[in-house]
Amino acid sequence: MKIELIDLKQRYKEESHQIFKCIKKVVSKGNLVLTKELENFEQKICNYTGSKFCLGLNSGTDALMISLWALGIGKGDEVITSPTSFVATIGAIIHVGAKPIFVDISDDLNIDPLKIEKKITKRTKAIMPVHWAGKMCDMYQITKIAKKYNLKIIEDAAQGMGSYFDKKHAGSFSDIAAFSTHPLKNLNGLGDGGFVTTNNKKLYEKMKLYRNHGMKSRDNVHLFGINSRLDVLNAEVLSFRLTKLKSVIQKRRKNIELYKKYLNQKYIKIPRDNEKEFSSFVIFLCLCEKRNDLQNFLKKKGIQSLIYYGTPLHKHVASKKLKLSKTQLPVAEKLAKKVLALPHHQGLKRNEIKFICNTINNFYKNH
Ligand SMILES: Cc1ncc(COP(=O)(O)O)c(C=O)c1O
Repeated sequence: MKIELIDLKQRYKEESHQIFKCIKKVVSKGNLVLTKELENFEQKICNYTGSKFCLGLNSGTDALMISLWALGIGKGDEVITSPTSFVATIGAIIHVGAKPIFVDISDDLNIDPLKIEKKITKRTKAIMPVHWAGKMCDMYQITKIAKKYNLKIIEDAAQGMGSYFDKKHAGSFSDIAAFSTHPLKNLNGLGDGGFVTTNNKKLYEKMKLYRNHGMKSRDNVHLFGINSRLDVLNAEVLSFRLTKLKSVIQKRRKNIELYKKYLNQKYIKIPRDNEKEFSSFVIFLCLCEKRNDLQNFLKKKGIQSLIYYGTPLHKHVASKKLKLSKTQLPVAEKLAKKVLALPHHQGLKRNEIKFICNTINNFYKNH
């Protein structure tokens, strides 16, 4: 049996009719930038997440950067974040001129709120929690700390679409939340894309300026921004896919239930769910003993898997150059040696999951 990690081709096959309809609708109007379709998508995101404002952007990376700019975070400032994330999390902080300060994670793979206070200095301006793999951080604890020290919160919700904490959608706990609609996310476009949500009108208006070169109109530039307008074709496809998101997440959560049922969790662990969390499980990460041997074994059996990621952010060459690597982050370092993403998508069948689990259980029986 050959089992792929994700199956974007299958999804395209199922949806090609509607996708071509979206493309035709947009292209036939002849207007392809900042159109009504984009505004409609933004309104739909507000309806889904419960946020007051949304802005469609080029990517999740831009969403983080524009959030930081809008909050006035830059040179000399520190932003507390997790070492277990995609590099964009700290890339955005560095590109606005600020410094990422890492706080170690706990065994749920998210920032450990109990370790945040120790890292707060006079220069700390914000906390940027990352909802890694769609698993929600403990936003009540983080909000409490931010209030106590008068810090801003930017949620890196790039993987958080469809995830809830205490029945509130990701993004409900911060000044601004940044989402990605990259093809590998649950709500995914035809290419790169992202958006921000906020309940603060002033921040929304500021971000709107940053998104489009700071222009209030063609001859009225208020600040120097960038071009980070979400492509209108993508906005229309995303609006269509948003109508399917609940069922996509339901199917993905069922996968996880099956994995939990069939996997012998003695040597391979599924990170715990926090008490108040509803995870969208955008990727399915496990923590495995003998991870590299297991991955090779799975490969031989036709099962694709991916190390997501083997290097915590403070250990990259680029981080070392900026002297970000000296921090002691033992949990992130230990778990990076164990983490493995297993096949996980809405088209995955019960017998495929059974096969994957049996293969893994057999591997551990013989090693
Ligand atoms: C946690 C996290 N933050 C930020 C990003 C950046 O998003 P994008 O790829 O849309 O720029 C990603 C994308 O994978 C991500 O996973």
